Amino acid sequence: MHLPTLIGGLSAIGGLAQAAATSPVIEADDFSITGALQDLGVDVSQIPALDSFAAIETRSTDKACAAACASLSFIFGSKVSAQETTGYNNFTSSFWSVQQEEVQPHCVFRPAKSTEVSTAVLLSRLTGCEFAARSGGHAAFTGASSAPDGISIWFKDMNAVALNADKTVASIGPGNNWLTAYAALEPHGLAVIGGRASSIGVGGFVLGGGISYHSNLYGWSCDNVESFEVVTASGLIVTASATSYPDLYWALRGGGNNFGLVTKYNMYTIPSPELYGGARTFLEPEFPQVINAWINVINNATVDGKAQQYVAFLRTQGMNLASAELTYVKNDPNPEIFKQYRNISAISDTSSAKTLVEYVEYLETENPFGLREVYWPISAALDERFANWVVDLFYSMVPEVADVAGAQPVLIYQGITEPMLNNMKNHGGNPLGLAGSSGPVHLLHISCWWKNESDDKTIYAFVNKFMEKVMAEAKSVGVFNEYVYMNYASMFQDPIARYGADNKAQLKKIAKKYDPREVYQTLQPGYFKLDGPPVTPSF
Ligand SMILES: Cc1cc2nc3c(=O)[nH]c(=O)nc-3n(C[C@H](O)[C@H](O)[C@H](O)COP(=O)(O)OP(=O)(O)OC[C@H]3O[C@@H](n4cnc5c(N)ncnc54)[C@H](O)[C@@H]3O)c2cc1C
Ligand SMILES: *[C@@H]1O[C@H](CO)[C@@H](O)[C@H](O)[C@H]1NC(C)=O
Ligand SMILES: *[C@@H]1O[C@H](CO)[C@@H](O)[C@H](O)[C@H]1NC(C)=O
Ligand SMILES: *[C@@H]1O[C@H](CO)[C@@H](O)[C@H](O)[C@H]1NC(C)=O
Ligand SMILES: *[C@@H]1O[C@H](CO)[C@@H](O)[C@H](O)[C@H]1NC(C)=O
Repeated sequence: MHLPTLIGGLSAIGGLAQAAATSPVIEADDFSITGALQDLGVDVSQIPALDSFAAIETRSTDKACAAACASLSFIFGSKVSAQETTGYNNFTSSFWSVQQEEVQPHCVFRPAKSTEVSTAVLLSRLTGCEFAARSGGHAAFTGASSAPDGISIWFKDMNAVALNADKTVASIGPGNNWLTAYAALEPHGLAVIGGRASSIGVGGFVLGGGISYHSNLYGWSCDNVESFEVVTASGLIVTASATSYPDLYWALRGGGNNFGLVTKYNMYTIPSPELYGGARTFLEPEFPQVINAWINVINNATVDGKAQQYVAFLRTQGMNLASAELTYVKNDPNPEIFKQYRNISAISDTSSAKTLVEYVEYLETENPFGLREVYWPISAALDERFANWVVDLFYSMVPEVADVAGAQPVLIYQGITEPMLNNMKNHGGNPLGLAGSSGPVHLLHISCWWKNESDDKTIYAFVNKFMEKVMAEAKSVGVFNEYVYMNYASMFQDPIARYGADNKAQLKKIAKKYDPREVYQTLQPGYFKLDGPPVTPSF
């Protein structure tokens, strides 16, 4: 299927797509899609599928995507997989949630380099066929990183990890997850600020924020990016940093998939740590002490940034349990900061010394694939009484889904600490709207898996009801915080709106500049857009 004359000159002229950092015009009014494709070495007049598509009078999604996918496979051959092939099935069967596995794209495209991503975006524009892009595929809901009947772009093969000359920046392709990224850096004695479980993708994680084991020392992942290489809606390849396209750089540090497809994450390196940690599990009578210890560790992040923690409350085998994942980014089994936790009698403790690679592999085992999933967060000011109240509410409501096949609701507590908030002011700030918080933030979310599609509505209504009650209480006691963490957000939430009106307006302005025809809003409809939640809530 390869046509050498069509793509033969691609590597030679690929540089044409590189925009000069000074170029003010990202997409001219008279922008020509076919002209841009020509610059990439693609002559559309030579693609038979586009010829016949041009002649079609009534266009449909199916016809548009048949033309787009046939064009991609004409140009890129085996990098494109049609339905009912192994390449396609490998894609659909390797998502974390079943809701994403169920999506049937028209084809799956596995680009090997940035210019190939540009070509896919331009062919989507030319035909009107929708697309979605996938890094680790950990977003839980339908269409977030796979396009129903459209083109699903799978970054899997763009998986290079390279260090710059002085090893201060690691350039990480979006085909990496945190295991492959850390494993490539560990032999150099280095790491980056990334995810806590192995199969989470670099791609989605960084664009939504990114809470790491190291975040009390260095901040969130998005605040530790030196620059992004981005494919814009017009197929240009630009590098956004604090000094080059700084507005785009700001927008990408929390704005999600609304501005372009990121083809390189250039991240500041840190020395590779030896960690010590694991889960300590406690019974119900200890919960108030656990919450007290959790609050103390959040407040003490200003004193010792090496600790990281989350507490998961759940009911299993008839027992209410709190499981505290306590991680220290130094091989020290007894740091002062976890003293209070160690004083609470635990029924089990998996703590041990681990490398970062070992740690993310260990945590992966707690998050099985192949189930229906929802994550659903809200935020509040850190408040001990409120934190206890929410736990009590959770256990009072858990019986409501006890009969739902395979349902395992979990309430998870984390802290957005002062050092994390302070680091959000670095490099010109980010759009999350948190940097000005007056104290640590309580980030709480429900994670729930279950088995049957017929129970989807029951589970969503259950989590919604719980969150409505929690938000009402938070408002009535004056601790409610508008912030919704995109990386955990459910399809019924609107994280961009929760970044605050000014940040939202600024994000829309930047999107308009880099994507004047709203390609990333309309042709890539999945996940969190600039206006409104992916699914309008109705419970
Ligand atoms: C088990 C588990 C553990 C988790 N642990 C953590 C944690 O420790 N800390 C934390 O902060 N979060 C955590 N998360 C949340 C996680 O950060 C999000 O689910 C994140 O979106 C996953 O990224 P991904 O690349 O795997 O997802 P994907 O589903 O591949 O992508 C998510 C969205 O980002 C877009 N996207 C992906 N790559 C690109 C790109 N290159 N350019 C433009 N858009 C892109 C996709 O199109 C999609 O819309 C966890 C989630 C799970 C399920
Ligand atoms: C599908 O995945 C398997 C297992 O990872 C791999 O061996 C195989 O080459 C893949 N096939 C295609 C066509 O991608
Ligand atoms: C943490 O806080 C407690 C009391 O709030 C204090 O006793 C302790 O020394 C602090 N420091 C560390 C490193 O944990
Ligand atoms: C440890 O727990 C005991 C009883 O549970 C309590 O009396 C003691 O003060 C605690 N010590 C610390 C350091 O928290
Ligand atoms: C739901 O799951 C149960 C238990 O696995 C199964 O027996 C049942 O058939 C499923 N029901 C539906 C409607 O799929």
